[in-house]
Amino acid sequence: MIDLAGRRTLLIVGGGIAAYKSLELVRLLRRAGAGVTCVLTTAGKQFVTELSLQALSEHRVFTDLFSLTDESEMGHIQLSRAADLVVVAPATANILGKMAAGIADDLATTLLLATDKRVLAAPAMNVRMWLHPATVANVELLTRRGVLLVGPDEGVMACNEFGPGRLSEPPAILAAIAAALSTGTPLAGRRALVTAGPTHEPIDPVRYIANRSSGQQGYAIAAALAELGAVVTLVSGPVALADPPGMAVHRVETAAAMLAACEASLPVDIAVCAAAVADWRVANAWAGKVKKTADGGAPALELVANPDILARLSVAGPGRPALVVGFAAETDDVLANAQAKLARKGCDWIVANDVSPATGIMGGAENAVHLVTVGAVEDWPRLAKTEVARRLAQRIAAFFT
Ligand code: CTP
Repeated sequence: MIDLAGRRTLLIVGGGIAAYKSLELVRLLRRAGAGVTCVLTTAGKQFVTELSLQALSEHRVFTDLFSLTDESEMGHIQLSRAADLVVVAPATANILGKMAAGIADDLATTLLLATDKRVLAAPAMNVRMWLHPATVANVELLTRRGVLLVGPDEGVMACNEFGPGRLSEPPAILAAIAAALSTGTPLAGRRALVTAGPTHEPIDPVRYIANRSSGQQGYAIAAALAELGAVVTLVSGPVALADPPGMAVHRVETAAAMLAACEASLPVDIAVCAAAVADWRVANAWAGKVKKTADGGAPALELVANPDILARLSVAGPGRPALVVGFAAETDDVLANAQAKLARKGCDWIVANDVSPATGIMGGAENAVHLVTVGAVEDWPRLAKTEVARRLAQRIAAFFT
């Protein structure tokens, strides 16, 4: 018996003959104890009524992006915030296409673009639509971004054709929902430190040395560890990202300040150094703004090495975190450099990636990484940075269990 007591789902019902099965899904979710809020698309209304969904979910149904009453009662952002999981069933080829392209032209697709929650889609469509290269490419892209899929099943369809495209049966969708919600809190009671973003090393009060790190990967890792129950401290260089909820965030500017903030947050069980720490700082940084001289000469910067935070955290001793994870952002010989870094810095794992400009990884939303441990390398597919973070957090949880 599946128990989803206290879990909240947002169910988007797309248009398709299979939409009738969404009524059964709502009934099963309610019976499992889950809260269900339904969003019915305009096409969905052709197949099921708001009244049926409302009666079964015991909750009002939302349909319209521009409804004054809907927005004043529950804004569309609030709708996704109030859910633990967003479920799309049936997910038509049209909805999947809009999700992949980032189109937001109604309440359902706007929610799907705005949500920061996991999305589980149960596709349902004609077999040729499912096998069309456009749908295949959309599904591949969505999977890479971390969207979960259940089905479709194979069988005879409403259009009398045979093949994959049938909406999964409601009990199978319920099981997939339970699995998606069952991450649990395997890191409860563990303390984690995550560094993220670049550092800025001042030249004078208005100029600094920096790098192109956006901080996205480190922030996603901090959020994923917190999601699994860890008590997280995020030490962040200057980035344009909001504080992830539910953790202590220390914003710093320089490598020296990042090291001090890290040391102040010890002891921890887990340290993940995702920051792109500047290797050097300006030893002769000016107290006042450097002015141009009449002869057109340029000031000479004297650089000195910054402390290596990852290496410091990895030093063996009673206070050492049980697991120290570093990153290796490389443009050449990725694996050889990563393995050398693992040995040189004394950490336990290195997440290595190729950040050559052609990859678009630095500052982009996706990452293709290799998890390098002593004596082993795992190649992960190109995934959304949020998905890389979830997988890494799961691996960290497995290390502790
Ligand atoms: N790192 C750190 N402190 C530094 C430099 C790097 O904590 N002063 C950490 C990064 O957070 C990352 C790992 O070390 O986890 C590797 O960073 P990277 O810049 O790839 O390596 P470097 O040590 O700087 O080596 P190189 O520049 O020669 O590639």
